[in-house]
Amino acid sequence: MATSRTLARFLGIALLLGTGLAQSCWKDTVCSGPADTAFPGPWESNIFAPSSRIVSPEFILSGQNEDILSPFPGTASLSGNGSQLVIDFGIEVGGLITLEYSTTGPGSIGIAFTEAKNWIGEWSDSSNGGFKGPDGAIYSTFATAGKGTYVMPDLSLRGGFRYMTLFLITNGTTTVDVTDISLEIGFQPTWSNLRAYQGYFHSNDELLNRIWYSGAYTIQTNSVPVNTGRQVPFVATGWANNGTLGPGDTIIVDGAKRDRAVWPGDMGIAVGTAFSSIGDLSSVKNALQTMYNNQNPTTGAFPEAGPPLLQQGSDTYHMWTMIGTYNYVLYTNDTAFLLQNWPKYLKAMDFIYDKVGFNGLLNVTGIRDWARWQQGFNNKLISLYHTLMTGANLSIWVGDAANLSTIWSARASNLQTAINTHCWDNDYGAFKDNATATKLHPQDANSMAILFDVVDSTKAQSISSKLLKNWGPIGAVSPELPGNISPFISGFEIAAHFSIGQTDRALDLIRRCWGWYINNPNGTQSTVIEGYLQNATFGYRSSRGYDYDASYVSHSHGWSSGPTASLTTYVLGLSILSPAGATWKLAPQFGDLCSVEGGFTTSLGKYQASWQLVGGGYTLNYNMPEGTTGQVILPCLSAGKFPRITVDGLPVPADMSAQIVGSGVVLKARGGSHQIVVR
Ligand SMILES: *[C@@H]1O[C@H](CO)[C@@H](O)[C@H](O)[C@H]1NC(C)=O
Ligand SMILES: *[C@@H]1O[C@H](CO)[C@@H](O)[C@H](O)[C@H]1NC(C)=O
Ligand SMILES: *[C@@H]1O[C@H](CO)[C@@H](O)[C@H](O)[C@H]1NC(C)=O
Ligand SMILES: *[C@@H]1O[C@H](CO)[C@@H](O)[C@H](O)[C@H]1NC(C)=O
Ligand SMILES: *[C@@H]1O[C@H](CO)[C@@H](O)[C@H](O)[C@H]1NC(C)=O
Ligand SMILES: *[C@@H]1O[C@H](CO)[C@@H](O)[C@H](O)[C@H]1NC(C)=O
Ligand SMILES: *[C@@H]1O[C@H](CO)[C@@H](O)[C@H](O)[C@H]1NC(C)=O
Ligand SMILES: *[C@@H]1O[C@H](CO)[C@@H](O)[C@H](O)[C@H]1NC(C)=O
Ligand SMILES: *[C@@H]1O[C@H](CO)[C@@H](O)[C@H](O)[C@H]1NC(C)=O
Ligand SMILES: *[C@@H]1O[C@H](CO)[C@@H](O)[C@H](O)[C@H]1NC(C)=O
Repeated sequence: MATSRTLARFLGIALLLGTGLAQSCWKDTVCSGPADTAFPGPWESNIFAPSSRIVSPEFILSGQNEDILSPFPGTASLSGNGSQLVIDFGIEVGGLITLEYSTTGPGSIGIAFTEAKNWIGEWSDSSNGGFKGPDGAIYSTFATAGKGTYVMPDLSLRGGFRYMTLFLITNGTTTVDVTDISLEIGFQPTWSNLRAYQGYFHSNDELLNRIWYSGAYTIQTNSVPVNTGRQVPFVATGWANNGTLGPGDTIIVDGAKRDRAVWPGDMGIAVGTAFSSIGDLSSVKNALQTMYNNQNPTTGAFPEAGPPLLQQGSDTYHMWTMIGTYNYVLYTNDTAFLLQNWPKYLKAMDFIYDKVGFNGLLNVTGIRDWARWQQGFNNKLISLYHTLMTGANLSIWVGDAANLSTIWSARASNLQTAINTHCWDNDYGAFKDNATATKLHPQDANSMAILFDVVDSTKAQSISSKLLKNWGPIGAVSPELPGNISPFISGFEIAAHFSIGQTDRALDLIRRCWGWYINNPNGTQSTVIEGYLQNATFGYRSSRGYDYDASYVSHSHGWSSGPTASLTTYVLGLSILSPAGATWKLAPQFGDLCSVEGGFTTSLGKYQASWQLVGGGYTLNYNMPEGTTGQVILPCLSAGKFPRITVDGLPVPADMSAQIVGSGVVLKARGGSHQIVVR
């Protein structure tokens, strides 16, 4: 251990000297991230991550009206009690601050943090508790005139902020010149190069590009050192980020500022983002392992959240740990991880399936969930369907001596019948919230029903059009959480529209919702927000009728990064079908775009594709690892009619078995570099 650590550090330094870049991993963390991006190109200018772990602010703003006083570095003077400056880092950042200053007398500098512009001031936005109000400030105190240095203690690490307010407390006429400000970034601790992305996306739509990269950067800010979680029990004043989250060096949490805990419910979205963009799945592995380590050994239930929080009692989040396991193994082929945890996975499956009741539906007893705390609602049934179906594939990957894939597929099929029988509202044309006479047609269950294939295509198209009724100018308002817009659940909704070819709807919702936030001058302009209100303000209305402290909302929340994976999976059209990408699919959707390219990386190598509309047709290029096989689905130029296709300049070879299925031509393809032209 010690030797490999020393070696890693030595190599890190050698690399550093070689490239002349000031890059390093977090504190004593062993560097294990990639040294460089897998796909160099002009799109790297869209990466929000800084080129160094030590960063400086962008601007010094007036404490009075937040006008820009100067770029940083620049004069930063505080004079007299209560005088203020606002330091703008230009993007979301997080970590430990160092200040250098010189003073003319005694006093102290107050330091307060906020992600959104709205909470600039002497009180930080809220990260600890939610209902107690803002976190206050931390202080650097000095007794005499002279030079001083303040290094923020590890305990006070601030996980997410863009703005930092400096204010002077003095009894006299003290003046302070802040001569330097730097931040040591805490997130993505094992990466020496925070811009070494293993995936990319680039289209002719600059807004979509920024949204894709804001999701990617959000995941980076959510991948944190394992000893920087929120302390539980919560401290009574201020904040403490010294909680132990799980094994390893890096772990994915729900948000940069808060909760700074593992929440498996996020993984339905965040894992796909991590895979398609940055390519860091070790943070996901450690997050899943901490859930397995904390499984209830008697019942088989997983906690709702990881340690130190360890909240219990959510059937939904229990299933997300299981679905997260599938996604992780699909992307990595980490069979050792799967085999090590398989007995616990089986126990978890028994725990949840035992709750299926007399009518074939789930008797939900672990009722904690996003938006609703009642029994028997539909998103849990649909999650169970997906848990069984992904479990069936997992069981094949472990060898399936017990024929579980057959058993679980059959159970899924029975459940699908029960859901469609008891919960479909035929008069309305979408699912009800549960098997009662309720008029609520939720966004979550209906989106997931399409995405996870619980319905036939007629029902799927009907649901897709009914979901539009929730839309307003800045996003889809969730009927199950009135007044709120949830980029988390909207992430499932866009994937649902894409998955049935409703490309324009999906792109429209991405631009309304994520476009509103990334262009909002009060936001971080670099990450994705946890949720916001229908009336275009930052805040969160709970299902139980009260407003959370609006400053408690996290502005860097991985569960809201849905567009990143969806733009890669559906618009570029690139996805993998079996572990590590031995088989893959390339099925572009054009929408109103005219050119897109992108790619990602697995242990088998790089997967890359691009398409351009040209004249009345299009050109599709791809380059996949040799030895892999795939399915290419080419959109027809006019419905049901074979277009003119060439592959590498020649007619389609017979072994590609071109045939029309639905609105596309399906080809059997192999790895390597190829060009298809469709006219
Ligand atoms: C000094 O400034 C602080 C911070 O603005 C303020 O809370 C305090 O009331 C001021 N003290 C006096 C004596 O004005
Ligand atoms: C201001 O004076 C009060 C009373 O003498 C003292 O308690 C306090 O520490 C002083 N504050 C500063 C910032 O010097
Ligand atoms: C930004 O916040 C300010 C102050 O809270 C508010 O007046 C303004 O309307 C906000 N702008 C947007 C675009 O939300
Ligand atoms: C974190 O800090 C708090 C407050 O100082 C302390 O009570 C707690 O024991 C610490 N927790 C850990 C895991 O070090
Ligand atoms: C649901 O489960 C609870 C707890 O095990 C049990 O008390 C209740 O009877 C069950 N309801 C149905 C309809 O099966
Ligand atoms: C059914 O759904 C409605 C709407 O969400 C809710 O008010 C009710 O409590 C639910 N009933 C059951 C038994 O889950
Ligand atoms: C299971 O694997 C098959 C074959 O690769 C794939 O087509 C199917 O989509 C997978 N099921 C799920 C639920 O992902
Ligand atoms: C698995 O189950 C299916 C369906 O019951 C059956 O046809 C098949 O023979 C079983 N295979 C094994 C290896 O038991
Ligand atoms: C927006 O809605 C929230 C929650 O109902 C409310 O507290 C807030 O005052 C509203 N803001 C505006 C500007 O309408
Ligand atoms: C996945 O892992 C298994 C077991 O280690 C191995 O046999 C198989 O070749 C791997 N597949 C790929 C595509 O790497």
